[in-house]
Amino acid sequence: MRRVAISGIMLLGLYSLALSANGASIYAGQERAAAVCAQCHGIKKPSADAPFPSLAGRDFTYLKLALEQYRDKTRRSDIMNAIAGSLTDNDISNVAAYYSKLKP
Ligand code: HEC
Repeated sequence: MRRVAISGIMLLGLYSLALSANGASIYAGQERAAAVCAQCHGIKKPSADAPFPSLAGRDFTYLKLALEQYRDKTRRSDIMNAIAGSLTDNDISNVAAYYSKLKP
C-alpha cells in the first residue's frame, strides 16, 4: 500500500512539472519546437553563423508576446508571420513554456 501511495505522489510531481503556469504543456511545446522551430532557432541555440535569434531560456512572457505579435502581424517578419499564423493560443503557450524552461 505504501509503495502505491509513493508512486502516486511521484506521478503527481511529474504531472505538475509538465504543466507550467497557465497550464501550458512543455511536452507539447517540445514536440513542436523539435519539428518546426529548431530548423532555424535550434533547441539550445541556433547554429553558429545563422541569423536566427536564440530562444532557450528567454522570458516566457516575452516569447509569448513575440509570437502573438507575429501572428497578428503587429510585428513584421515574412518568415515568422507565416509560421506564427498557424499557431493556436495553446501552441504559443506550449512552445514559449518549453523554450523558457531550457537552459541556454
Ligand atoms: C524558417 C526559419 C524559422 C523557423 C522555422 C522559425 N523561426 Fe522564429 N524567427 C526566424 C527569424 C528569421 C526571426 C527574426 C525575425 C525578426 O527579425 O523579427 C525569428 C524570430 C523569432 C522570435 C523573436 C525572437 C526575439 O529575439 O525577439 C521568436 C520568439 C521566434 N522566432 C519563435 C519561433 C518559434 C516558437 C518557432 C516554431 C513554432 C519559430 N520561431 C520557427 C526564423 C524562423
